[in-house]
Amino acid sequence: MRISERGWLVWLVAACGLWLSACDDDDPADPMADMDPGADMGPAPDMAPEADMTPEPDMVPGETLGILTEEQTRMARAMSPMPPIPASPTNDYADDPAAAALGQKFYFEADWAGPLQMDSRLGAEGEAGKVSCFVCHDDDTFGSADPVGVGARFHPRHAPGSVNAAWYAEAGFTWRGRFDVMWALPRAVFEAGAIFNSSRLRVAHVVFEQYRAEYDAVFGDHPLPPLDDLDRFPAEGKPGDAAWDEMDPADQEAVNRLVANVGKALEAYQRTLRSTTSAFDRFVAGAGELDESAQRGFALFVGDAGCVGCHSGPFFTDQSYRNLGLEQTGDAPAMDAGRFDVVEAIAGDPFNGVGAYSDDPAAGQPFIDAVEARSDALIGRFRVPTVRNAAISAPYMHAGQIADLAALVDFYDVGGGPAPMGVRDPALMALGLTAAEKADLIAFIEALTGDPIDPALGEDTSNDP
Ligand code: HEC
Ligand code: HEC
Repeated sequence: MRISERGWLVWLVAACGLWLSACDDDDPADPMADMDPGADMGPAPDMAPEADMTPEPDMVPGETLGILTEEQTRMARAMSPMPPIPASPTNDYADDPAAAALGQKFYFEADWAGPLQMDSRLGAEGEAGKVSCFVCHDDDTFGSADPVGVGARFHPRHAPGSVNAAWYAEAGFTWRGRFDVMWALPRAVFEAGAIFNSSRLRVAHVVFEQYRAEYDAVFGDHPLPPLDDLDRFPAEGKPGDAAWDEMDPADQEAVNRLVANVGKALEAYQRTLRSTTSAFDRFVAGAGELDESAQRGFALFVGDAGCVGCHSGPFFTDQSYRNLGLEQTGDAPAMDAGRFDVVEAIAGDPFNGVGAYSDDPAAGQPFIDAVEARSDALIGRFRVPTVRNAAISAPYMHAGQIADLAALVDFYDVGGGPAPMGVRDPALMALGLTAAEKADLIAFIEALTGDPIDPALGEDTSNDP
């Protein structure tokens, strides 16, 4: 998409509404389009531009790490250390500590949840105020031990960790890449029947009643509207509900802005959840030992086992979408077409990085332009996840189909699953690993566990009603 077409595209996105197919974009994806270095950790503004370039891992010939060959050493240096956190240019508050502190409160807030639609450990069907982000994002990586999310009812997919999630900026967020920007996700999650089963008006009232001063301190440019006027701002409602649809458009706009800002605070908090330095990184930096089993596992990972074909680079993902042929199991739906189902929704989401609530629509545009056109090739594809912290984030895969690392290595050893939907990725092949090689691969994955998160970031700081 040329720059001159941007204004037209923004108009189209705003105008096409439900006719999402009209928002399709046929441009080939440029995978590097949105890989900006982190604003908070990037080079100082006065640095020469060439200093900004990702360094070609330079090494003295013959200087190898541990038992690795020269080639393996070169590959290890291409996978460590983690780069700075990617910038989030469409969220002005992304790296604001006050927004992050407010976001932490929101992450633990349950009062804005609507009624549960089934009995579960969260409560009885019909009870409200039982779902917070943390009920599904509560393990050491702020992911879940449940195969699929348990909210107002079962979610169709597994909850991935919030820790390090900011590094998915290039692929987009969730297993299917439904969101171009992280702050767009909460609005959808609040209103999804399976998750919060709530509405933007209900969320807005909780902010007004419990967080008014803190909210205005962070988002003073758009102070809270008078939500105590229940004639103008009904207690509940979202697009499609009469209560919402009959509101003054300016009041709707104010509520949308508020909910987008809740998302921006939540993003700011989640960006503080980082675990980027593991035993592998210390080994590559020459600052620590790595046992030989893990080193042999690395050699397999980048060699005969072929893992690096998809799990490449320092975040151990090429940020692409692939079909591993996984069967749907447990409480997950019988079929899931993955990426195929969402590519057209990204550009049509009013809360995306080019919409009215983006702080820099031009910066959000390249991502939208790079989204693939819907085609059968996308059926059954899911985002290649990072392997960092995998040892502490079982179960695995988009519906938690695989319980532990031993089963995961066995899955790859036989060349993936039977592909109930779409075509299994041709890169997968039966590996025929020995028991010792499987143990080595697992030892390597275990060496990718990062340092723990500051426990203060895992505390429930939400305000009491
Ligand atoms: C019902 C359980 C549940 C609740 C509650 C929940 N999530 Fe999630 N979350 C999930 C699941 C499941 C996914 C994966 C969704 C998908 O791929 O379709 C996910 C995905 C995400 C992602 C994407 C991470 C990535 O790797 O791309 C982020 C960020 C996130 N959630 C943040 C939140 C925030 C913030 C809240 C609260 C506003 C929240 N979640 C509430 C289950 C939940
Ligand atoms: C063809 C690309 C591809 C190759 C090759 C590949 N993976 Fe994956 N990997 C993926 C995708 C895609 C997923 C998620 C699949 C899904 O949920 O549908 C995944 C998931 C994983 C996960 C689970 C992470 C999580 O958070 O659930 C781990 C761990 C993993 N792979 C390790 C490996 C290892 C070890 C190898 C080599 C033996 C390997 N992968 C080879 C693409 C690949």
